[in-house]
Amino acid sequence: MAGQESAESNQAAGTLAVPPSHQAYARGRRVIVSARGVTREYRVGGEVVRALKGIDLDIYAGEYLSIMGPSGSGKSTLFNMVGGLDTPTQGSVVVAGVTLANLTRVEQARLRNKCIGYIFQSYNIIPVMTAIQNVALPMLLGGMDVASANMKAEQLLEAVGLGERGHHRPDQLSGGQQQRVAIARAFANDPAIILADEPTGNLDTRTGEQIIEYLSGLSRKRGVTIISATHDHKMLAVSDRVVTIRDGAIDKIELRSELNIKIGSIGGGAPGGADAQPGGEK
Ligand SMILES: Nc1ncnc2c1ncn2[C@@H]1O[C@H](COP(=O)(O)OP(=O)(O)O)[C@@H](O)[C@H]1O
Ligand SMILES: [Mg+2]
Repeated sequence: MAGQESAESNQAAGTLAVPPSHQAYARGRRVIVSARGVTREYRVGGEVVRALKGIDLDIYAGEYLSIMGPSGSGKSTLFNMVGGLDTPTQGSVVVAGVTLANLTRVEQARLRNKCIGYIFQSYNIIPVMTAIQNVALPMLLGGMDVASANMKAEQLLEAVGLGERGHHRPDQLSGGQQQRVAIARAFANDPAIILADEPTGNLDTRTGEQIIEYLSGLSRKRGVTIISATHDHKMLAVSDRVVTIRDGAIDKIELRSELNIKIGSIGGGAPGGADAQPGGEK
């Protein structure tokens, strides 16, 4: 798709130095999101809140990247930058070879529709629409005909185990089922990137694990890049890399291989495994 372009735009954004321990991981991978010097300041009354203080980050196509950090550390803000929902105060974000700041509003919306799928903590599915209609909507907005969109929506709902629930509205579904509708919808237009902002935040431990399983399963099957903001330690087990941000700055970036010991010591095991920790949820 935008493969060749991204190499150029990487240069435009400047090559990021990759630490030696991560060079083998980076080798042969294509950069799909590139953030350089990204800051975001909010003005609240007379005060300036510095939510992001200069983020430099390359995200590789097909990886499962978790952004960890305490509440208020800037995860959602960074996330909105990557998804083109918000604009940096300074710095640049390149997504799939395109510098977001160079796009008009309409072009940004088109890029989001075609290239990025969103999953939010609060599901954000449309209450008056059935599951099928919710999943079909982004395809219809992208220009697909109704019959094809509905058929693909049904297939996607089946892939997340909701084949029988297509005609239910959100208020007839549990939280976990609603989140699965949101997952199906995020995959609707075969996006290159899925942005998931605390997708298990409102769910109990078991359901959260199921959601992570569906998300990682679908992403691997389809080679989709997952960027997930989370403070759910169960997500670490499926993450290829974990970026920890603290107070608006990157604190560290770790590979899964570097995390194994920690995951073991938390006692979480693999998602979907039988050894889910009791009482692990806040
Ligand atoms: N719209 C906003 N107006 C003012 N301050 C904001 C706004 N959104 C976020 N912030 C502030 O920016 C910081 C980072 O917030 P956020 O990105 O939501 O953190 P996280 O997602 O990690 O919990 C916090 O201090 C928060 O209060
Ligand atoms: Mg947040």
